[in-house]
Order: sequence, then C-alpha cells, then structure tokens
Amino acid sequence: MISSEIISVGADKLKCLINSDEIRHKVDLLANQIRTDMGEEETPLFICVLKGAFMFASDLLKAYKGSCELEFIRLSSYNGTKSLGKVKKLIGMDFKEVRERRVVIIEDIVDTGLTIRTLLDHLAVFKPKSIDIASLFVKPARLCHNVTIKYYCFEIPDAFIVGYGLDYDEKYRNLPAIYVIQK
Ligand code: IMP
Repeated sequence: MISSEIISVGADKLKCLINSDEIRHKVDLLANQIRTDMGEEETPLFICVLKGAFMFASDLLKAYKGSCELEFIRLSSYNGTKSLGKVKKLIGMDFKEVRERRVVIIEDIVDTGLTIRTLLDHLAVFKPKSIDIASLFVKPARLCHNVTIKYYCFEIPDAFIVGYGLDYDEKYRNLPAIYVIQK
C-alpha cells in the first residue's frame, strides 16, 4: 500500500511514501527468497552496511528461517543529499572471514552503485564462495557502476528518501516508514 500521510518531525514536514506494513511484507518475501536460494546446507554470512541498513538487516534476519551469521561494516559516500563521488570509510569486520563463504551484503539503498562496487571489489580479494547484494531500495535511473542487485525490495525513482534507517544529515533514521522531505 502506498501512503501519502504527512507527518511533522521537529520543524520539518515529511510525506509518507511507503508505510511500515508494506516494508514488512516485502522484507519477509525477500528473506524467504534468499533462504530458498541458499538451501538447507548453507550458513550464509550477512554483512550489514552501517548505518543505513541497520533496521532492514534486523527485520530481514528475523524473517530469515535458516542458519546464518551476521557482521557489520561501515562505508559511506554521502554528505547531505549529494554523493561525494568517492567512498570515505571502510571499517568493521575482519575480511578474512569471508573466505569460502556465501556472503550476502545488506544495503539500505543502491544509488550510483559506487558504495557497493567498492565493497564488492574489496571482498573479492578474500575469495568468498559467492557474493550477493540484498538492498532495500534501488534507484535504476541513477545507477552508473557495474553491479547486479540480485535481491531488492523496492525500485524507486530519483528521489531522496528517509526513514527506516535512512537519514538526511543523521536525522530520521528512527522512523518506521519511508518518507520524502517536503520543501
Ligand atoms: P551510492 O554509493 O551512490 O550507491 O550511494 C549509496 C549510499 O548513499 C547509501 O548507502 C546511502 O547511505 C546513501 N543514499 C543514497 N540515496 C539515498 C537516499 O535517497 N536517502 C538516504 N541515503 C541515500
């Protein structure tokens, strides 16, 4: 269900784009799809890209009905609403852990694809058995790096969205639904 409810947060007005029921429904479907693809034998290593994917990762793993492990990484290319065109940070786990593992990167949103491309290139050096991406959102109109997003919940147009982990200058991550900031 697409909602158009408008809420106030501090001095800002936010218009709801996708409500929490719809997010939950899509996340559950995605968890089942990944579980089916992995099969009984695999224990995939999920890598949550902080901070934006924390809420998505939490719900995705709660819905994942199989054996799995979780790691966290921090990697950011954004300041405000504009990509800086380069990835600033890459910190977190011991990357040697990915060797011979089936890895699923959990990302909040793939925009230009720079962040995910950088992470894929970095992880490939440590020879995982496979690497797939599970992103809550993809913006196909913005994609300009060579990446295949096997798992995603929603395709969205070129708009800046917040909520459910996604921020604007660190605000709005706590909102349980997805919003567009009203001018
Ligand atoms: P990319 O490297 O250009 O693909 O940008 C991906 C990262 O930019 C995401 O992990 C987010 O942190 C951030 N980002 C891109 N679009 C949005 C948006 O609409 N809202 C909030 N963050 C975004």
